[in-house]
Amino acid sequence: MNQELIKYAAKILERADRVVCLTGAGVSAESGISTFRDPETGLWTKFNLEELASQEGFRSDPGKVWRWYAARVGDMGKAQPNPGHVAIAEIAQRTEDFTMVTQNVDNLHERGGCESVIHLHGTIGKFRCNECTRDYDVSDDELTADQPPHCPHCNGLVRADVVWFGEAMPRLQMDRAWKASENCQVMLVVGTSGIVYPAAYLPLLASENGATIIDINPDYGEISRMADVHIPAPSGEALPAIVAAMG
Ligand code: OAD
Repeated sequence: MNQELIKYAAKILERADRVVCLTGAGVSAESGISTFRDPETGLWTKFNLEELASQEGFRSDPGKVWRWYAARVGDMGKAQPNPGHVAIAEIAQRTEDFTMVTQNVDNLHERGGCESVIHLHGTIGKFRCNECTRDYDVSDDELTADQPPHCPHCNGLVRADVVWFGEAMPRLQMDRAWKASENCQVMLVVGTSGIVYPAAYLPLLASENGATIIDINPDYGEISRMADVHIPAPSGEALPAIVAAMG
């Protein structure tokens, strides 16, 4: 890891009062949760996106979608926050005004010590009716069943409370993320390919408004291209190193 880059990123963060951190699947990779697009290990290279993460897929085979998300609830429940999550929480504590925005549906930022997290793509382990959108508490038996339960209010099918392709993001969460991105001095982007919009627009918005963009990603991607600083390292190593270098 390039120590000069780490020190440079630490200085930028130290001097900023208003910081936004935007994360994607890469921040949880070292916790054993697969990313979506990494070659070979990425979920969307192994599973069919249209079948599992779209309204059309759910309507044509609700049981298949139900079982897939139930398995993910199990996998994510077993995962532990990694040093990257913990370091982000540390940076949050040292920053006057810190906004945590994630595209991830796991709750590893919260479990890693971040108090308030904006979830742009929903949360795994929460469920709602696909028709009337009311929240639904799923029992253990229902979670291991072959088919989703029915909503007691409208008889619609219950689904995971995550955002599927073609669906709008939660309005309030997006508004908060948008405002914070417009106003921040630094945006720390961690482990996202930056190709899913509108989340990927947030770093552009921050940059247009004068923020410094720090990208942490072993690969050079869409965000690295527009970032002021790109740290080509796994976040579980780079982020603790940045915290250690902060005064
Ligand atoms: P992707 O799978 O598209 O990108 C993951 C990124 O993490 C890649 O750029 C990797 O290079 C990087 N990465 C891998 N290991 C890393 C590590 N140890 N440290 C840091 N970075 C690492 O995942 P997202 O960008 O999160 O949407 O994908 C965005 C959205 O697409 C997801 O929220 C999901 C998906 O379809 C919905 O479910 C709506």
